[in-house]
Amino acid sequence: MNTDILHNVWYGSLLSQELGKGQLKSLVLNGEPVVLARTQEGLVYALKDICPHRGIPFSFGRMVGDQIECPYHGWKFNSGGVCTEIPSLCSGQDLDSTKIKVKKYPVMEKQGVIWIYLSDKKNPDVESLTPEPPLMAALGLDAKPQVIAEAVFKCHIDHAVIGLMDPAHGPYVHKSVFWRSEKTTYEKSKNFGPVPFGFQMLRHQPSKNSKAYKILGGQPTTEITFQIPGVRLEHIQVGKRNVYSLTILSPMGPMQTKVYSLLYWDMPWLVIAKPLIQAFADRFLQQDVQAVDRQQVGLQYDPSLMLIKDADTQAKWYYALKSEWIKASLEGRQFQNPIQPTELRWRS
Ligand code: FES
Ligand SMILES: [Fe+2]
Repeated sequence: MNTDILHNVWYGSLLSQELGKGQLKSLVLNGEPVVLARTQEGLVYALKDICPHRGIPFSFGRMVGDQIECPYHGWKFNSGGVCTEIPSLCSGQDLDSTKIKVKKYPVMEKQGVIWIYLSDKKNPDVESLTPEPPLMAALGLDAKPQVIAEAVFKCHIDHAVIGLMDPAHGPYVHKSVFWRSEKTTYEKSKNFGPVPFGFQMLRHQPSKNSKAYKILGGQPTTEITFQIPGVRLEHIQVGKRNVYSLTILSPMGPMQTKVYSLLYWDMPWLVIAKPLIQAFADRFLQQDVQAVDRQQVGLQYDPSLMLIKDADTQAKWYYALKSEWIKASLEGRQFQNPIQPTELRWRS
């Protein structure tokens, strides 16, 4: 199995609300320090968070106007990563600062998430072929998450993704009064099909033992989409109303993965239940954190692992999607989704 981190894709790496106007924020994406800045007009840009002069991270500095000022000697850089000013220069010292550049990362902001494009040095020009982060069609581009849970998983993004799409761990890891226990498992059968850069559990009524859906009332139906590099979007419909659960993973480094679990909805009355839902979301994610931490205790011995049918078929698909993405990038061709419509059965 290929454990490469995928390149030429967007990673949802920060929430819009974590970066105010005139603010800087640092993060690590695939081992690279990145500084994000938001201009007074609200636009976001991202540069490598290392000053090319003497290496101090820009994120210790500040924004002056729409530019980043290095905290050490005050060099200024614009949103293109170009140095526009070196304060120590005297008249007649004609160093052209604009020849000094730092790496700039493409960014986009959608539905309350800032997405950073991680390019491939060898093959940087396929951005147009890239999976677009999925849209919550019923809510529009400006939708904001109502409930936010976040965590850092101390594991490779592959294990985080697989854990996320694993249908069989629920009754054991997420034992909770709100969820289900191992005593009430049923045989499930779900239909899946390919979607651009991923696959989808087709729309269906959630199982009767999934108590969490009950809070929505009515007759909910749900559809779950997974897309590389690490996006899971569940869309629950109750009549004309919608709830979206978006989970995004981004690799901080080979053994650290940032996870955001976000809920969006257009059911105004759900506000009453918000504290409860928040507590549930936090608890749910912490249960996964604990499972991952415990798994790492075993993985340090580098055991060989298994993926079984049908409960782990989605994990197999994830690896198949990854391999195809890497191959298509190397060969400079269009991605061909390897997934076929399939019915999967498991007990949970
Ligand atoms: S280290 Fe940044 S200006 Fe000198
Ligand atoms: Fe989980």
